[in-house]
Amino acid sequence: MKITQQVCHEDDVWEGEKYYTVIDGISLVLVRVNDEVKAFQGWCPHQDISFEDAELDGCTLTCLAHVWKYDISTGQGINPKTSKLIEFPIEINEDGNVIVTIEGDMHPSINLRGGIA
Ligand code: FES
Repeated sequence: MKITQQVCHEDDVWEGEKYYTVIDGISLVLVRVNDEVKAFQGWCPHQDISFEDAELDGCTLTCLAHVWKYDISTGQGINPKTSKLIEFPIEINEDGNVIVTIEGDMHPSINLRGGIA
């Protein structure tokens, strides 16, 4: 499985706010950190709960289900430190559109479920 799809315009992703979306059943959280747009999995690795309602404070993304925290500049878990978010490669074309590539072998959870929303 490989998906390469335009998900938004770069102007939709503001510093300090998350942009949540779902493409082909796979949820994504896009953020802008130091003027760089990044795309991460849009579900929490703890119990696969959506990040749609997660809170972003600076570079800390907090899942409201059980308060696991992630550094959104890297995807690395803050609490617990052993957790980590999948980061998907993005490209911004000449029109400013953000294009994300997701491959099924990037993480076992994508292969197993064929997409997570
Ligand atoms: S599902 Fe996110 S902290 Fe438990």
